Amino acid sequence: MFVKSLTIAASIASALAIKEAACPSSTNTELGEAVSGETFQTSTISTLGSGCCAYLAKSPIGNRLITPSDGSYTDRAAMQWSLAARLTPRCIILPQSANEVSQAITALVEANEHQTCQFAVRSGGHTCWPGAASIDYGVMLDLGYLNSTTYHKENSTASILPGARWGDVYDTLLPQGALAVGGRDPTVGVGGFLLGGGNSFYAAAKGYACDNVANFQVVLANGSLIDANAHTNSDLFQVLKGGSSNVGIVVRYDVYTFQAENLWGGIVTYPFSTATQQIEALVDFGDNLKNDPNSSAITFFTSTNLVNATSIINVYDYTKPVVRPAIFDKFLAIPGNLSDSTRIANLSNMVAELEQPDGFRDTFLTLTFASDVDILKKIVATHEELYSTLQAAKPKGNWTINTLFQPIPALFGQHGAAAGGNVIALDRFTDNLMLYQLYLAWQGADQDDLFNGKGRQAIKDIKAASVANHTDNPFIYLNYADRSQEPLEGYGDASVAKIKAASAKYDPHGVFQTLMPGGFKISLVDSDSNSTYPAQAAGLGNSPKVQVEVAASA
Ligand SMILES: Cc1cc2nc3c(=O)[nH]c(=O)nc-3n(C[C@H](O)[C@H](O)[C@H](O)COP(=O)(O)OP(=O)(O)OC[C@H]3O[C@@H](n4cnc5c(N)ncnc54)[C@H](O)[C@@H]3O)c2cc1C
Ligand SMILES: *[C@@H]1O[C@H](CO)[C@@H](O)[C@H](O)[C@H]1NC(C)=O
Ligand SMILES: *[C@@H]1O[C@H](CO)[C@@H](O)[C@H](O)[C@H]1NC(C)=O
Ligand SMILES: *[C@@H]1O[C@H](CO)[C@@H](O)[C@H](O)[C@H]1NC(C)=O
Ligand SMILES: *[C@@H]1O[C@H](CO)[C@@H](O)[C@H](O)[C@H]1NC(C)=O
Ligand SMILES: *[C@@H]1O[C@H](CO)[C@@H](O)[C@H](O)[C@H]1NC(C)=O
Ligand SMILES: *[C@@H]1O[C@H](CO)[C@@H](O)[C@H](O)[C@H]1NC(C)=O
Ligand SMILES: *[C@@H]1O[C@H](CO)[C@@H](O)[C@H](O)[C@H]1NC(C)=O
Ligand SMILES: *[C@@H]1O[C@H](CO)[C@@H](O)[C@H](O)[C@H]1NC(C)=O
Ligand SMILES: *[C@@H]1O[C@H](CO)[C@@H](O)[C@H](O)[C@H]1NC(C)=O
Ligand SMILES: *[C@@H]1O[C@H](CO)[C@@H](O)[C@H](O)[C@H]1NC(C)=O
Repeated sequence: MFVKSLTIAASIASALAIKEAACPSSTNTELGEAVSGETFQTSTISTLGSGCCAYLAKSPIGNRLITPSDGSYTDRAAMQWSLAARLTPRCIILPQSANEVSQAITALVEANEHQTCQFAVRSGGHTCWPGAASIDYGVMLDLGYLNSTTYHKENSTASILPGARWGDVYDTLLPQGALAVGGRDPTVGVGGFLLGGGNSFYAAAKGYACDNVANFQVVLANGSLIDANAHTNSDLFQVLKGGSSNVGIVVRYDVYTFQAENLWGGIVTYPFSTATQQIEALVDFGDNLKNDPNSSAITFFTSTNLVNATSIINVYDYTKPVVRPAIFDKFLAIPGNLSDSTRIANLSNMVAELEQPDGFRDTFLTLTFASDVDILKKIVATHEELYSTLQAAKPKGNWTINTLFQPIPALFGQHGAAAGGNVIALDRFTDNLMLYQLYLAWQGADQDDLFNGKGRQAIKDIKAASVANHTDNPFIYLNYADRSQEPLEGYGDASVAKIKAASAKYDPHGVFQTLMPGGFKISLVDSDSNSTYPAQAAGLGNSPKVQVEVAASA
């Protein structure tokens, strides 16, 4: 509700958005496209051999292929939440079973023996940056039809398919008296969320959502379907918890469930004049989470072109039906709120209120800091400067900038380690931390450089200030990371080595590194460790030819 009133429903038609999507200039270097003179460590998006989709059409998965001439193409291509991430694949494969995902991978690898036929994998399509889960000219493997949730009362687990949205998961589980740890916005996808960590109202009590996965069912590059859990392929199990799209395509997540209970919580908004009190209350709250891990809080500083002042939005949630529990006392003592939706309600109802509007071009950027009042004040001051700078630049259309803070108590890392370990490896840190996210939303591709440029500069300035005061931390939350950032490096050398080892073992020809360029790729991470990757996928017959010129016709 609040977000809808503060942000704005955009009217850009999806067809226009597809036309707007910039065609990245292809290059055969290991660096991604240059934007505003910067290069990023993302994989190359290259052109498609003209016969790629024709080849796939004749393969066993051919009946699941759609092309721009099919009526459903426009809707499927527009499933990306951020308009900036909507690209124009030459064809889309919509598998309807794990076996069909296997057939699709096999067909794609074979097609690449004849011509370049790169692909992207999409579950919920909530990554903001173009190319993470989408591709121009290549093939989109769209897991959106694999979207069911099945509750298994007998072992208190649920089998959730990657294309499900968290709102649907809760709506399926709640009537059966169960819940699973997942997203706080109903449209966020399951697939990417669980591979990047997954922060939730339950994180202090149960760790990241990925730490609540009992088993991953995975299609490997050679098309075989395997399980990864604490007993079988346990190295892969650990790497899938944070390792994103580097080792295989997950076609089923078996997650632990727990007994559903209503929550207390909601959204409370305040004027900017309370900023210092909010920061002090939040740092205090993060440090107290160990005493009552059933709670969570998010603090947003939000500014738009529509109102000439920053507002503060706090999201309080207590995962038990207890009104105004004591851990929130310091927040509850801040007078002068402008609105208050706190209530007892079920999880579906709580997350519905947090839905973020689509129809904008969006960027997320993130950093992590010590739980320290000074650095949070510096970040808020930077937010205010960014707001003034953007106001002075007079962008056209509607735009919003949000600075979000979420405590990461040491508990998160402890839960991860107790669940068998993940590559996020927060147990490296013994102190409580604070996650910072900068979330920008605007209209018009011609303003991408303005918003991305200013956002990336703000992040650099804040990082420098934290380094100077020794409140910096290397963790970069992958699910909030911009393509200009390096979340895999932020996991630390030991995790990088684990992901490299799993990639070499389960994907020896580097299919998920070279044929699937989207997402953060372990082969692009510099490390002192022994290199296991050839520059091009080897052993696939003719190695894929990365062409420099973009095909003239779409
Ligand atoms: C409005 C909004 C709200 C959000 N709320 C939260 C929140 O509450 N908590 C939180 O932690 N994060 C949140 N996020 C961030 C979210 O976790 C990421 O955007 C995440 O990637 C979403 O998953 P997805 O399936 O929609 O992603 P996609 O963009 O489809 O995929 C993300 C990456 O994973 C790869 N991938 C996807 N599925 C698979 C698969 N099955 N196998 C292998 N690789 C795969 C893709 O190729 C891509 O590189 C939010 C994001 C948005 C936009
Ligand atoms: C969920 O899958 C069904 C088919 O399995 C499909 O009809 C439906 O459109 C899918 N939902 C989304 C949001 O893609
Ligand atoms: C739980 O039970 C279901 C149905 O019997 C089974 O398919 C699933 O593999 C089990 N999950 C786990 C994690 O044991
Ligand atoms: C969740 O709460 C909403 C609103 O209070 C209600 O309409 C819905 O039926 C509830 N869902 C379940 C499964 O109880
Ligand atoms: C948090 O929830 C757990 C599990 O239900 C419960 O055992 C514990 O007492 C709760 N903590 C507090 C402080 O209420
Ligand atoms: C916006 O607010 C700032 C201070 O809060 C003020 O200096 C400025 O004049 C205002 N701008 C407009 C257009 O009202
Ligand atoms: C918000 O303000 C109202 C009115 O003063 C007050 O009754 C309410 O308790 C406040 N809510 C919170 C969460 O502080
Ligand atoms: C750095 O530390 C000094 C001294 O404690 C403090 O005054 C300043 O606000 C800090 N700056 C940041 C960005 O944390
Ligand atoms: C901006 O938001 C306002 C208020 O919601 C709306 O009336 C207007 O149409 C929006 N402008 C654009 C270009 O979307
Ligand atoms: C598929 O790859 C895995 C991992 O490299 C390997 O263990 C398995 O034997 C391969 N399967 C086939 C059929 O080649
Ligand atoms: C490189 O490989 C050698 C031999 O397997 C091993 O002893 C060494 O530790 C590796 N280096 C790194 C940095 O992993």
